[in-house]
Amino acid sequence: MKKNGVISFLVVLSFALCFSNCINPMPIDLSTPFSSAHATPTPRAFGALAVQRGINLGNALDAPTPGEWGVSIQPCYFEAIRSAGFDSVRLPVRFSAHAAKSPPYTLDPTFVALVDETLQPALAAGLIVILDLHHYEEIMDDPAGQRQRFLAIWQQLAGHYQGAPENLYFEILNEPVKHLDAAAWNDLIAEVVPLIRLSNPQRVLIIGGADYNSISALDALQLPDDDRLVVTFHFYEPFKFTHQGAGWVQGSHEWNGTTWNGTDADKRLIEEHLDRAVAWSAQRQVPLLMGEFGSIITADPASRQRWTAFVARQAEKRNIPWLYWQFCSDFGVYDCQQQSWDTGLLQALIP
Ligand code: GLC
Repeated sequence: MKKNGVISFLVVLSFALCFSNCINPMPIDLSTPFSSAHATPTPRAFGALAVQRGINLGNALDAPTPGEWGVSIQPCYFEAIRSAGFDSVRLPVRFSAHAAKSPPYTLDPTFVALVDETLQPALAAGLIVILDLHHYEEIMDDPAGQRQRFLAIWQQLAGHYQGAPENLYFEILNEPVKHLDAAAWNDLIAEVVPLIRLSNPQRVLIIGGADYNSISALDALQLPDDDRLVVTFHFYEPFKFTHQGAGWVQGSHEWNGTTWNGTDADKRLIEEHLDRAVAWSAQRQVPLLMGEFGSIITADPASRQRWTAFVARQAEKRNIPWLYWQFCSDFGVYDCQQQSWDTGLLQALIP
């Protein structure tokens, strides 16, 4: 008993020091599967999906190599996120850049260890963590050719995180697009869900529709009979406002200066989209999640605040949990260099 007490104290102390100094925790031993002993499991009632307000930690582990897009996740960010009132984080990870190109498609253990190091303080801070397979570009170009590799990646991840606490959720694939159309995506879902269920029978799984996880693609989405699935959609309407000047959207600099004024027509457009998602969810009896919504940092701040507050409140009114895209960087609400929030935008998210 006494020894356990001392050990618990040391664990708590090491996390406390880690948060207060904002440094990375010690690397873990990857020869064993992810262990829940590193984190505090938080019991969650699935009935009312525990995510309410969350944030995406984009541009970090979803970059081609970690840090390449200027974001390295520090354990202290999770305390900042929790203290600000968020209950969840989505962690986009480009696992496809760290898996062998030929069978058995082994994941790079050093990279998986980095993901573990990133996850552990978030789980320990009591946050729900959505581990998201992001930017798997090869599968968008060639779904058939990548099928076995995609399944092998999930088989490895499912095995590795099998013992993780239940506040770790899996999101199967971000934004299917191009050749990964609704039909090809439905085929993959039918195969990957039972595969993950072999080792993770209870874990919450998140799946979105094709066409960049759009609301309009929900109708074509086919889901296995599984009562622990949540369906996600991404919301960036009006796109010319949210993506003005986005380097990855051709011609978007022509939209620079687009404001969002919150006229009746502006609001109606957003409400209609969300109502469509809600109608789908009611008909199919599947819980919804707005897994990404946000606007680019170069848009006018007052418009960003108006749009963000309106979308967030409208989602809440419809009982749709949301995760803002994104924490820091190009759609950000936090300055990782200064370690400070954009307080106007934060207030729009969490009044
Ligand atoms: C998607 C993309 C991400 C982008 C965001 C906003 O999540 O994967 O890279 O920043 O949408 O466009």
